[in-house]
Amino acid sequence: MTGPLENLDAVVNGLLGEVDTIASIEELDAREPALAGRRSPLAALQKSLGGLDPDARRDAGARLQAARARVEAAIGDCRRRLAAAERDRLLEADRLDLGDVVTSTVPDTLRAGHPGLVARTQAELEDVFVAMGFRVAEGPEVESDWYNFEALNIPPAHPARGMWDTFYVDLGEPETVVLRTHTSPTQVHLMETAVRDGSLPIHSVMPGRCYRRDTPDARHLAAFHQVEGLVVDRGITFADLAGVIETFTRAYFGTDVETRLRPSYFPFTEPSAEFEITCQICHGTGCRTCSHTGWIELGGCGMLDPAVLEAVGIDPDEWSGFAFGFGIDRCAQMRHEIADMRALTENDARFLEQFS
Ligand code: PHE
Repeated sequence: MTGPLENLDAVVNGLLGEVDTIASIEELDAREPALAGRRSPLAALQKSLGGLDPDARRDAGARLQAARARVEAAIGDCRRRLAAAERDRLLEADRLDLGDVVTSTVPDTLRAGHPGLVARTQAELEDVFVAMGFRVAEGPEVESDWYNFEALNIPPAHPARGMWDTFYVDLGEPETVVLRTHTSPTQVHLMETAVRDGSLPIHSVMPGRCYRRDTPDARHLAAFHQVEGLVVDRGITFADLAGVIETFTRAYFGTDVETRLRPSYFPFTEPSAEFEITCQICHGTGCRTCSHTGWIELGGCGMLDPAVLEAVGIDPDEWSGFAFGFGIDRCAQMRHEIADMRALTENDARFLEQFS
């Protein structure tokens, strides 16, 4: 074939061969105009068609068009191949060898674990009470109804049972075994032992875990910790109780914390009170944590009800005493200004590490 397109196949093959040699996207961008654009031999051929008669020009135009499409398709393939190679190269450069990360970010001495904030707070509170002359005792977390309620002057169906939303354990007769709702049943164990051993008086604190069917919120957890206090001795008055509470709150929270006692009701103490400290989140001005009251309740207390002493065989005419029970988690929350108590159970390493 003669005419302007007689070398078309050779031109196209030459262009395809050139495309094959291109090694980077930048090179492709730079060379594209000379391969398929305005400076390409195909564009020059296009111009040379001007002198042909209309039929021949249409045929030649169609052949040129097909030739250009082949070159453009080759350029498209080339571009995709180069882009994929570039992606692989970047991925490879970004590859993380986790072995390297571990060995480079963990210090030479592997970090040791440490007691959680609640365990630490419990130990600190025990220290405060031991310094005041108390002994430390513990009791079981699973209790019979008798220890958790009846011996504490809360008979079955007594309305005061509503004060403690109780988890029952599926053991024995229905509703006879409970997860203790407070540490007060340990008072009863201690008094029974003291009566059996003839070892009155009692000056003891009893820390431990308790359970209530509460919906967790900023101040409550369904599994929480209390410290129970029990003094049974001769001639004990409410002033002794108030003095112990004042002394312990100052020793643990510092002297600028205010304590107040508010009249309350517990079936096992008479008179009864709740004790509160200034909210340490807002320092008394009112915030979400203290429901805008400026005060946070730490626990309940009161003089031992004679009915409780009698239930374990202690003569209320000879002996008197007081008891208190307050939240360890609450103390940790106030001492460390933790706005939401649920942080204590979330196991967020960033939280835990603040208390190592
Ligand atoms: N056991 C009570 C409670 O958890 C607190 C308390 C303990 C009250 C001792 C008086 C005496 O609600």
